Amino acid sequence: VLLALTARLSVIKLGGSAITVKSKPLAPRLSVIKAVAEDLACLYEEGERFIVIHGGGSYGHPLASKYCLHKGFTNVVQLKGFAETELAMRDINSILVSSLAEAGVPVAPMHPSCMAVACRGEIADLYLKPLKLTLELGLIPLLHGDVVMDVKDGFTVISGDKLATFLALRFKAKKVVFGMDVKGLFDKDPKVHPDAKLLKLVKARELGNISSVPSVRWDVTGGMRAKLAEARKVASKGIVVCMGSIVEKGGLLKMVKGIEGDYTVIVP
Ligand SMILES: Nc1ncnc2c1ncn2[C@@H]1O[C@H](COP(=O)(O)OP(=O)(O)OP(=O)(O)O)[C@@H](O)[C@H]1O
Ligand SMILES: [Mg+2]
Repeated sequence: VLLALTARLSVIKLGGSAITVKSKPLAPRLSVIKAVAEDLACLYEEGERFIVIHGGGSYGHPLASKYCLHKGFTNVVQLKGFAETELAMRDINSILVSSLAEAGVPVAPMHPSCMAVACRGEIADLYLKPLKLTLELGLIPLLHGDVVMDVKDGFTVISGDKLATFLALRFKAKKVVFGMDVKGLFDKDPKVHPDAKLLKLVKARELGNISSVPSVRWDVTGGMRAKLAEARKVASKGIVVCMGSIVEKGGLLKMVKGIEGDYTVIVP
């Protein structure tokens, strides 16, 4: 069953830049979340199957940064920070779970902190069986960037981007979609440079040349630079990567279905 399933499986990352106002602590973008949920419901009805992962945005990053959770365990004050960060992630996660369910997506929420173990900031081990069984039943797993126990560093932050590419490779997905607040990958950050040009088709090996500095000071998972490294991992293995805006309704739909539009496609 799973083999037939993975042939049409996409992995969809809902960027924290899109589903929250990333520069304002604990600020969800409810209209974007609603539009995304409706797009996902529509795709589900059409028979598309996918794993959804959301980022931390202004729920995860500021707290993880305040307590330096991304640098590993160094002092006991961080333990309260861990709890606070997890709580904030539960908050944005529950907004997504209820929005998806309300739109008609049979969502199965899963917390990576309970399923994964890291080693030096990389996913070392992830219990895939709940995901497999969930997908086989026709449920849609929803995961998120999370603080994960790390065998060397105590704990670490594993980004939604990392989870997306890890799962895409394990499940041999056909496509990874990175939804964001900008139209796609530009030759430089479009928020800083108004003259930046959208790159519609990029080869995996060209990704190293693109200028990408983190957009907010407290981004704990490396912003666009780290996203491109993840994109390169999967694109070089033949999995198509799309990056684009999910802020306008229909944006996500287009990328998942491969309908031509103003977004970036990364090919091997
Ligand atoms: N060359 C570039 N092209 C496009 N965006 C870029 C580029 N360089 C930097 N950026 C910035 O990267 C941001 C997207 O990465 P970021 O990690 O901030 O968002 P995200 O991954 O959606 O959020 P989260 O990490 O919370 O899930 C965009 O909002 C944009 O401002
Ligand atoms: Mg990010």
